[in-house]
Amino acid sequence: PTIFVITPTYARLVQKAELTRLSHTFLHVPQLHWIVVEDSPQKTPLVTDLLMKSGLTYTHLHVPTAKERKLQEGDPSWLKPRGVEQRNEGLRWLREDRRDGQQGVVYFADDDNTYSLQIFEEMRNTQRVSVWPVGLVGAMKFESPVVEGGKVVRFHTGWRPNRPFPMDMAGFAVSLKLVLTNPEACFDGEAPMGFLESSFLKGLVTMDELEPKADNCTKVLVWHTRTEKPKMKREEALQAQGLGSDPAVEA
Ligand code: UGA
Ligand code: MN
Repeated sequence: PTIFVITPTYARLVQKAELTRLSHTFLHVPQLHWIVVEDSPQKTPLVTDLLMKSGLTYTHLHVPTAKERKLQEGDPSWLKPRGVEQRNEGLRWLREDRRDGQQGVVYFADDDNTYSLQIFEEMRNTQRVSVWPVGLVGAMKFESPVVEGGKVVRFHTGWRPNRPFPMDMAGFAVSLKLVLTNPEACFDGEAPMGFLESSFLKGLVTMDELEPKADNCTKVLVWHTRTEKPKMKREEALQAQGLGSDPAVEA
């Protein structure tokens, strides 16, 4: 089955670096269809060009996050959920615009995480919803479903373990069929902090039905890495003298 990877992305200094790294990971994965959804009112030349040259099978979409839902400069990053409308737009495309059959797996891959190639083979034969540990998330070495007798019985997490599905976005994949047979399942941007993943999954499965991967959830194959925001102090100082970096050069 094809793996449909939905990636929300937005313009910022590190965007091209993030998307370059991600595209190079995906080039190593057979049968992968990358659905890139820009958080913008239009498709940008940077992403358009990067995708065209990527060598990947892809679909390029865009939808801007509503102004009142968008983080403002200086807001702490946890204040509002990110990538919500974009993931929902990816789901809409799968349900309404995609042409081929029902076989496939859907994975939500943020543009800043680190993905081993193995995680894609783990998720490829997902029947309903498969799950695995995610490294460096939730202020822990890893968060993970806990498996007993081949079933997920609870979750290893330090924060609100009673959430319906206390898992990061990178820790699960869903069969395309389940996405198509539950046309109303989507991400709720109004969900309280930490409940975004649950808002989608609770309409699709029960804990009992989760399919543990990565050696019964004992291997970390994806990491919730976050990229430092580059400092622009010298750039700004040079700009003030009319000596800023050439704006015609894409970085
Ligand atoms: C954590 C989770 O790993 C995310 O899956 C979840 O969406 C997020 O929290 C949340 O609570 O909303 P975190 O590293 O804090 O992730 O979030 P980001 O990596 O900054 O953003 C997640 C995705 O949304 C990224 O692919 C990013 O490019 C995209 N994004 C972010 C936008 O499309 N627009 C934005 O304004 C910000
Ligand atoms: Mn992130």
